[in-house]
Amino acid sequence: MTITLTSRPRRNRLSENIRSLVRENNLQVTDLIMPLFIIDGTNKQQPVESMPGISRFSLDLIVQECKTLNQLGVPAVVLFPSLDDTVKDARATESANDDGLYQRTIAAIKAAIPEMIVMTDVAMDPYSSDGHDGFVTEQGTIDNDITLPILAEMSLSQARAGADVIAPSDMMDGRVGYIREALDQAGFTNVGIMAYSAKYASAYYGPFRDALSSAPKHGDKKTYQMDPANVKEAVREALLDIDEGADIVMVKPGLPYLDVIRAVEEVSEVPVAVYNVSGEYAMVKAASMNGWIDHKKVVLETMLGFKRAGASMILSYHTKEVARWLSE
Ligand code: PBG
Repeated sequence: MTITLTSRPRRNRLSENIRSLVRENNLQVTDLIMPLFIIDGTNKQQPVESMPGISRFSLDLIVQECKTLNQLGVPAVVLFPSLDDTVKDARATESANDDGLYQRTIAAIKAAIPEMIVMTDVAMDPYSSDGHDGFVTEQGTIDNDITLPILAEMSLSQARAGADVIAPSDMMDGRVGYIREALDQAGFTNVGIMAYSAKYASAYYGPFRDALSSAPKHGDKKTYQMDPANVKEAVREALLDIDEGADIVMVKPGLPYLDVIRAVEEVSEVPVAVYNVSGEYAMVKAASMNGWIDHKKVVLETMLGFKRAGASMILSYHTKEVARWLSE
C-alpha cells in the first residue's frame, strides 16, 4: 500500500549536497575571535591548568601566535593581561601606562600584522588590588562614576597603542558613551567599541579568573553584572549601549544564554557578538579528554548554535582549533 503524505521534510536531508543547499547557517573562520592571555618576559608559555590547550604567552610568543592565527584566516584577537600583584592598586593605575605590558603587546601585534584586528578589554579587574571591574569604596561598594574616567584613560592608552576595537567588559552604567566621547575628543574616531552589553554574573568565568589571578578579593560582581534570570534587561542594556555609540554589542556567556542572543539580535541595529567563555571551554575539553564526547563534532555544533541563535561573531578559546578544522 502506498502512503500519501503531503509533507516529507526528509527529502531535503537525503544527501550531503541537498543538505548543503538548504542549510540556513554556516560557520566560517571569519566569524571567530581568539582571546589571548599575556604575561611578562620572553619566550614564556604557561599552560592554564583549568583550560587544557590554552596558555599564557609572553609578548614575543603572542606575536607568533597572532601570525599563526592570521595565516589560518582568523580576523581578530582579544587580549587580556595577567599581571603580578605588585603592579596592582585600588585605582588600576597600571591600566593607563603607555609603556605597560598590555600597551606594548598591542603595538607589537599591530607592527607585525597590521591587518589583524586587535580588540582590547576595558575593566579594572586585571589591574585592581580589589579584583573588581570598578572602583571599590571604603564601604566596599562599587562606585560607578569614579570608575568612568579610569575606564576612559585605559581606553585612550589602548587606542594610542594601536587598538582597533575597545571592548568595555566592566558593566558600569554610561561607560560606552563616556568612552566614545573621550576617544572622539582625542581624535580616535576610527577606533570602534564592542560593548559587553549583556554580561551576566556567571559562575562560568572561573577558569578565566584562574588564568589572570583576577578573582574579586571580597564579595561578588552581582551589583554590576546581570542577574542570570533576566532577558528583558539584556535588551535594555544593548539598546542603551547602541544609543551611546556601540559598534558591536555582546552577550556573555554563550551556551546558557542562547535565548538572550536571539532577543538582542531581534532589536539590534548593530552586529551581535557572543563570548563562549572559559567555563564553557573547560567543560567541553574535560569531557573530550575523558573520551565522553566527540570533541570536534561537539565544538563545531556549539559554534553553529551561536550562529543560529543570531550571533555575527564568536569569541572562543576554540578559535585556533576550529580554524584548523575549517581549513582542512
Ligand atoms: C573581566 C572579564 C572577565 C571575562 C572577560 N573579561 C571575567 C569577569 O568578569 O570576572 C570572562 C571571560 C571568560 O570567562 O572566558 N572584566
